[in-house]
Amino acid sequence: MNASEVRIVEVGPRDGLQNEKTLLPSDVKIALIDRLSTTGLKTIEATSFVSARWVPQLADADEVFRKIRKVPGVGYPVLVPNEHGYRLARTAGATEVSVFTAASEAFNRANINATIAESLQRFQPVLERAKADGVKVRGYVSTALGCPYQGEVPVADVVRVAKSLYEMGCYEISLGDTIGVGTPVKARAMLHAVAQEIPIHALAVHFHDTYGQALANILACLDEGVRVVDSAVSGTGGCPYAKGATGNVASEDVVYMLHGIGMQTGINLDLLVATGAWLAAQLNKPTASRVTKARTTA
Ligand code: HMG
Ligand code: MG
Repeated sequence: MNASEVRIVEVGPRDGLQNEKTLLPSDVKIALIDRLSTTGLKTIEATSFVSARWVPQLADADEVFRKIRKVPGVGYPVLVPNEHGYRLARTAGATEVSVFTAASEAFNRANINATIAESLQRFQPVLERAKADGVKVRGYVSTALGCPYQGEVPVADVVRVAKSLYEMGCYEISLGDTIGVGTPVKARAMLHAVAQEIPIHALAVHFHDTYGQALANILACLDEGVRVVDSAVSGTGGCPYAKGATGNVASEDVVYMLHGIGMQTGINLDLLVATGAWLAAQLNKPTASRVTKARTTA
């Protein structure tokens, strides 16, 4: 990847939908992923194999994963919280998974009913099996810039958790501003600190746009050298265990900015906008993407 190329990790079908109260039919989720697969995206997080009691929206993970069209050259990682989820994901045919924990204890308890240490223990067998199976594992660190329960999260805690995931064998660590409270200087400093321990090419940033800071934060992190950015088409999303957190930064807005500053994503913005507008209609709510709004409002 050259320095002006950015890989977008589209998390809309998973992070975007997991908090939607109205259950979307599986066919719509499949159509969403199939549409995204035509846009030039290289990574689409398709669903999660978590407890349906905890995240009812994604209870159809098996069906969705089996039925999506797997386009060669596109990766379709799925979220797994433990070995049970890993087994289900593999049975459905997944070849890439993501594990997730947080830099704050209180958030982890609410999100996965475990301490940070316990969550890392749960991942150990997942990483061992994945290694044996030739499955790539991504790791998420949530609450990297603030926690809904604890407030401030020390950067040292983010570094420690990210390093543990990397040392366990995660090929990429996504640093998540789960509740979207970060600002550019702080985001960059956090990334800089983590990059002292983990090569920058193995880091990704994941911003929610609660306070409207996501694009500014991404720009600051690009300046620091990151080249992998998570986002969700139409800006959907939020975490069920992060009250008040709004959606992920919209993929359309990130791609527009990146192309505007001369960076390449390989993504066709028109197709992405059409997909974002289509999804907003399916969800029966206005798009949160400024670009899609600008391009589709008469
Ligand atoms: P628990 O209730 O503490 O665990 O849940 P348990 O081991 O006692 O299991 C309870 C039941 O769940 C059992 O079934 C298990 O078999 C079943 P029962 O015997 O009661 O019928 N179970 C499962 N079912 C399906 N798939 C599984 C699975 N594991 C156990 N994998 C658990 C613990 C981790 C399962 C639960 O807390 C959970 O599923 N949490 C998921 C929460 C979640 O998905 N949150 C959103 C994703 S994180 C996020 O959005 C942040 C991110 O975007 C980055 C950022 O923004 O910062 C990644
Ligand atoms: Mg998220």
